[in-house]
Amino acid sequence: MTVGEKPLSRIVVLISGSGSNLQSFIEASKEGNIDGQIMAVISNRPGVKGLERASNVGIPSIVVDHRAFASRQEFDRYLAEVIQGFTPDLVVLAGFMRILTTDFVNQFVGKLINIHPSLLPAYPGLNTHQRAIEAGDSVAGATVHFVTPELDGGPAILQVEVPILSTDTPTQLAARVLVEEHKIYPLVAQWYCQGRIVMDKGIVFHNGVEVGKSGLLFSNESEH
Ligand code: GRF
Repeated sequence: MTVGEKPLSRIVVLISGSGSNLQSFIEASKEGNIDGQIMAVISNRPGVKGLERASNVGIPSIVVDHRAFASRQEFDRYLAEVIQGFTPDLVVLAGFMRILTTDFVNQFVGKLINIHPSLLPAYPGLNTHQRAIEAGDSVAGATVHFVTPELDGGPAILQVEVPILSTDTPTQLAARVLVEEHKIYPLVAQWYCQGRIVMDKGIVFHNGVEVGKSGLLFSNESEH
């Protein structure tokens, strides 16, 4: 398939659960807002909702169950093989809850992106919303970043901020952040497919201009 002269980028999405971010990619491609095609959805957990979302729209969905492998290295080696089979231009981690080995990451560096539910570098790892509330923060958010071997430590591309209300539970805050995740993640994918986002020697460029350490800041009004 092609858009104008340029072939659609080949996208592989990795999930572990609900796949609401995957759904935002599915919607965005349907609406012509991503110059890419989701070639496959791969989950390390069987039976999750994200797999159903993929098969509902005819995207090949594959389970690579990490429990079937003796070590993280073996799982990652096999996972990488399956992904490489689709010759992807872009590999998207969308709620993929496995730490990836350096060997794996190095195979895909520059075309592997993740979304993390905090304003990185604040709160890498788990329970981000609870930690932000407990710290008394007034702002939370999400970050789309390139993946490097350091967990949640790769260079940021785009962040979105969300207010924390005094009455917020982690679940309420997570829901508010997720709505914004669904806007920024497909947008970054589109930038990537259009060649407008590049990582070179660990530095992110947007439209040829170096972005700051915390990436660009999304605003609903701004032109992208
Ligand atoms: C999101 O909050 C994302 O930031 C994090 O995992 C969650 C995935 O949600 N990495 P979903 O599976 O896309 O609904």
